Amino acid sequence: MEPTRWAGVFRDGRDLFTVNLTPGLRVYGEPLRTIAGVEYRGWDPFRSKLAALLLQPSAPELPGKVTTALYLGGAHGTTVSHLSDLWPSATIFVVEKSPTSFAPLLALSRRRPNLVPILSDAQLPERYRADVGLSEFLYQDVAQRNQAQIFAENARACLAPGATGVLMLKVRSVTQRRSTASVVREARATLASANLEVGIESPLAPFSREHVALTVRSPAHRPPSGDR
Ligand SMILES: C[S@@+](CC[C@H](N)C(=O)[O-])C[C@H]1O[C@@H](n2cnc3c(N)ncnc32)[C@H](O)[C@@H]1O
Repeated sequence: MEPTRWAGVFRDGRDLFTVNLTPGLRVYGEPLRTIAGVEYRGWDPFRSKLAALLLQPSAPELPGKVTTALYLGGAHGTTVSHLSDLWPSATIFVVEKSPTSFAPLLALSRRRPNLVPILSDAQLPERYRADVGLSEFLYQDVAQRNQAQIFAENARACLAPGATGVLMLKVRSVTQRRSTASVVREARATLASANLEVGIESPLAPFSREHVALTVRSPAHRPPSGDR
């Protein structure tokens, strides 16, 4: 097991692992491996687009340590459980709008106290921004037509100055007709018009062929709160 450039992420060949915050417990049937008294959880890139991103040559940095993070589209908690491993002392707010997915997410948060699930629509950040405050990392994985707009509005409401985020853009949820390049160009323009700096864009092949990951940074200075 080798450390990687992302604090808390380990690698054995092509396989990624995080240190299990809840030893003995699996979240989605992933393999557990104990070495020198430390239990590692396999991070499956076919189940988690963030793991798929970390396996790309253009993989971005992840914050080594955060106090607060905001995760949009938590589903059953597969990916966010690994962020929970990475940042044990953080508060990770997890927004999920489907009551069916929220139930297992709530159960997961009982075992992982750094996860705070919020049953809400990510299109309405004004409903949870007072609870979240300013987060240092924003992750979004919701299959909606206006994904870039949702990310921009959440960044404006909840992302700290100079903080980073990742938008997992599901191209076919935006349109069935236009090319991937055109959808990504439009998403970049939407994010840029919200004053967000868009860095690398990365495909997730061979793990997901439907998504492109966009790495985003918020401006170093926030506008006065009246403008938000
Ligand atoms: C692809 S799944 C997320 C998988 C998850 N991110 C993971 O990797 O473990 C997308 C989730 O986004 C949720 N979702 C879709 N639109 C949403 C919205 N407007 N607000 C909050 N959640 C939303 C869906 O209910 C679904 O659970």
